[in-house]
Amino acid sequence: MDIDKIIPLPQQCELKQGKFDLARVENLFVDGALKDAESIIRAQIEGDLGRKLGSGRDNAIVVEFDKDKPAEGYELEIKEDGVKIEASDRRGAIYAVQTLRMAVIAELEAEEKAAISCAEIEDSPRFKWRGLEIDEARHFFGEKEIKKILDLMCLHKLNVLHWHLTDDQGWRVEIRKYPRLTEIGGKRDKSQINGWQNKEVNDVPVEGWYTQEQIKDIVSYAAERGIDIVPEIDMPAHLAAAMAAYPWLGCRELDRPVAWYFGSSIPLSMGIKDWNRSACVGSERTMQFIRDVIDEIVEMFPFGYFHIGGDEVPMEEWKKCPKCNAAMKEHGFTDYKQLHTHFINEVGKYVATKGRKLIGWNEILHGGNLANDVLVQYWTPQPDPRVAKHLNSGGKVIVSKHKHFYFDMPYAQYPLRNTYKFTPFFGGINESNVGGVLGVEGECWAEWIDSPAKLEFQMNPRLAALSEVAWNKRDKKCYKSFEARLDDYFNVLDALDVNYARPHIFRAPKNPFKRGHIVRLWYSKDMNVEFDRNN
Ligand code: ACM
Ligand code: ZN
Repeated sequence: MDIDKIIPLPQQCELKQGKFDLARVENLFVDGALKDAESIIRAQIEGDLGRKLGSGRDNAIVVEFDKDKPAEGYELEIKEDGVKIEASDRRGAIYAVQTLRMAVIAELEAEEKAAISCAEIEDSPRFKWRGLEIDEARHFFGEKEIKKILDLMCLHKLNVLHWHLTDDQGWRVEIRKYPRLTEIGGKRDKSQINGWQNKEVNDVPVEGWYTQEQIKDIVSYAAERGIDIVPEIDMPAHLAAAMAAYPWLGCRELDRPVAWYFGSSIPLSMGIKDWNRSACVGSERTMQFIRDVIDEIVEMFPFGYFHIGGDEVPMEEWKKCPKCNAAMKEHGFTDYKQLHTHFINEVGKYVATKGRKLIGWNEILHGGNLANDVLVQYWTPQPDPRVAKHLNSGGKVIVSKHKHFYFDMPYAQYPLRNTYKFTPFFGGINESNVGGVLGVEGECWAEWIDSPAKLEFQMNPRLAALSEVAWNKRDKKCYKSFEARLDDYFNVLDALDVNYARPHIFRAPKNPFKRGHIVRLWYSKDMNVEFDRNN
């Protein structure tokens, strides 16, 4: 792969005469000011080449500090006799090496040679927030897969892993004060299968959670690769696994299992009317639980954000609950959405005492009066004018629009092109507030993803498209030229043993009837319809 064809595409790349052969490299030299980047850079290059490097400056990859280079940016000069990198920070140095690696790994896989074109590259990111979300509540993939994804994220210059660790169907993080969260909430004995509109259920248990030690190890693995991890502990809804463990979290104490269904069709068909409940936000005991959980979470995750979720909040229980109604009265609220926002703001104040900011899905704007420093993540398929309003009043936003960035959806519904042709600026934002869009994030929800191979299939090559949207500054990106680069890029995924959707899947059939047919199958009959046809 020529280095001017890598993903994500650098801002400026000029190919030069000659070739540089990494087989001849003997040394890696890293300037003292960037020493904290050395161990990961060294491990990655040595891993790719399958041999150790010395520390001298001859026949070397040399990493120099230059305070004038932009944040996370770098300059990379590839000559016949060596490589020179300049960066002002750790991530910049790491990203320069990823640029090199992307080309070298592809060459090694395709040609079994590590020779790449000489070049001069200047590069820096478009967005600060270049995220990927992994849902381990619905299915549990485990440490090995998460580390593999972190490696892949680093290679694509992505810098935030949003880790969805709790939901109705599972609680995956040890909380020492509340051991039943994982003992009870960390497993379910069966799952709804084959789509939201399907009533089939398997009898395969889903079980697993991370100890606090494992979490800290993964957080430090990510940090080494320039990746921050934001934990999502979704509340006040999406909390059925916690309520199975501690029924007093709800407005009514009901003895209910960890949810094994993913949508409304099965529970409603079985006459289960209370399948979707929010926690009791009027209860001091519930609020104390939330503060206790946050106390332990912030100890594990040093990043400056706490993701509260806050999406899809049913309010029926609140309407019948004396405690929630007392809270409504106390604050003079007339709409339960105000109680929702009040809850979010209260948790926001608490996380602020821990030096953290809150992130939540855009539903948290619907009650009005959301604190302005809450970072809003815009996901809903329907346009939400409140998001532009939040931006225009100085708020910050990350964009993960469903149609483009929901990687769990079938390709027949959202082909790869949707992800690539994504403009994260939407109507209604004032010119002066555009900078409030901090970046983009791809979402891997896992209701219908029950294995690492399928996770990788749904995610790739969408991750490549995401990385180019997040990194490359060109406003008008050409999907055709992106697709033309994928053949070489797939050598990289092959070398790393990463699964991905092939062109006949990610392009989706042109014929709308054929596409519709696949989508219908996916929703109602066969959640593996594309996965099984991939190879
Ligand atoms: C979401 O998909 N409910 C954030
Ligand atoms: Zn209540």
